[in-house]
Amino acid sequence: MKGAVTIVHMAVRVSGVLLIVLGVGIWTGRADQVIPVHELLGFVLVVSLWTLAFFAARVGVPARWVVLAVAWGLVAPILGLTQQGMLTGDWHWTIQVLHLLIGLGAIAQGEILARRMEQVGSPRVSAS
Ligand code: HEM
Repeated sequence: MKGAVTIVHMAVRVSGVLLIVLGVGIWTGRADQVIPVHELLGFVLVVSLWTLAFFAARVGVPARWVVLAVAWGLVAPILGLTQQGMLTGDWHWTIQVLHLLIGLGAIAQGEILARRMEQVGSPRVSAS
């Protein structure tokens, strides 16, 4: 299972970095045509995060971390796919910042789960 965990963890990281790069392109108005690619990568990230959460639950990571990651993976695409109609006008940038922060949070959830899985695997490290 360790190999599969490494693969989905890397998938979260790689898709996350690409999402940030494409997102900046979209934000600066230079790359609107890459939005479908960005959305596809977003789904890759979410599915990878959920897979990681599934593995984490199986090795005994506390349920609150698993539930948080699953819920985060749900909120990120819901906001991404609906935000175009939100606060259109001068304040739209606040939604864009929110989307970026929630996106960064989704990547962080992957890191937290991976760390917790290591802690569960090596009992000498205290899992708080
Ligand atoms: C999880 C699934 C995701 C979906 C479905 C999604 C979807 C979208 C869409 C449709 C846009 C264009 C919005 C617009 O033009 O108003 C966008 C923009 C953007 N995305 Fe995502 N995204 C996702 C994840 C992420 C992640 C993980 C990051 C970064 C960590 C990210 C960063 C950005 C940035 C910086 C922009 C440009 C600013 C903006 O328009 O909000 N996205 N995304």
